[in-house]
Amino acid sequence: MTLARVLVTRRLPDGGLDPLTAAGHEMVLPPPDDTPLAPSELAGVASTVDGIVCVLTDRIDADVLQAGAGRLRVVADVAVGYDNIDVTTADALGIAVCNTPGVLDETTADLAFFLILAASRRTSDAEADLREGRWTGFRMDRFLGQDVHGRTLGVVGFGRIGQAVARRAAGFGMEVLHHARHDTGMPGWIPDLDDLLRVADVVTLHVPLTPHTTALVDARRLALMKPSAVLVNTSRGPVLDEEALADALERGAIFGAGLDVYEREPQVHPRLLSAPHTVLLPHIGSASEGTRRRMAQLACEGVVAVLAGERPPNLVTR
Ligand code: GLV
Repeated sequence: MTLARVLVTRRLPDGGLDPLTAAGHEMVLPPPDDTPLAPSELAGVASTVDGIVCVLTDRIDADVLQAGAGRLRVVADVAVGYDNIDVTTADALGIAVCNTPGVLDETTADLAFFLILAASRRTSDAEADLREGRWTGFRMDRFLGQDVHGRTLGVVGFGRIGQAVARRAAGFGMEVLHHARHDTGMPGWIPDLDDLLRVADVVTLHVPLTPHTTALVDARRLALMKPSAVLVNTSRGPVLDEEALADALERGAIFGAGLDVYEREPQVHPRLLSAPHTVLLPHIGSASEGTRRRMAQLACEGVVAVLAGERPPNLVTR
């Protein structure tokens, strides 16, 4: 195999680069302070490498891909969602795109379930009260939340992560319904998302970001939800209209929300920061030591395979 040059845009967990090291490829590593490359810098370096290992905040758009065309053979996202990559252009230019499916399902489902519990039981508000010295003692009427056990969970998007959340819900005695565009053939499939939103006590989003899912949950759909309902998003921010969500929370049109992703990361809508019954996390769904290392390795394995002329299992292009 001829040795190649691979750009790694951001620092990866220890061991994450092992497949590239083992293959002997030369690596262009991120600066020690891990500053992201500007789009023009990305395009500049794209023409000097055979592969790119990137993260979900790197925009690998047509400019970057066209700059790389001729030499660049593979881009691997250390993420399962690859909406940051212009896959159509990559495909047209014969540049392979890989992602990290499967290895983060259980870790992300753990965090989604944490948000279901935390938002329903208002743990962020309660802990802030304690930490900020406002706790004056036990009271029967403070921080009353919503039960999770015995309620109905509505899973929107029933891929691997949605199903992993459903398994957790069964252990909490929840009834689980799900919506996907195509009949999953599994019990609890609701063909119309609106119907699911009307009956669910907790709604959790697990769809990829596509033109079809952008603002999937908007003001009209939020208005269908129960006033006691909790909404959780660990997928991609733009799936949810944040302004409409802030409005619904402020008016008490829904009970609470648990978010790990945002429309314009790292910006968080200022009204969400002060919205009631809201738990906000900084996009850490897959952030366990083992899972992040495995994600990095899987992305690098994809690069090594493509550069060796093989077809990796985590290829998203044709
Ligand atoms: C994280 O958000 C991912 O897509 O892996």
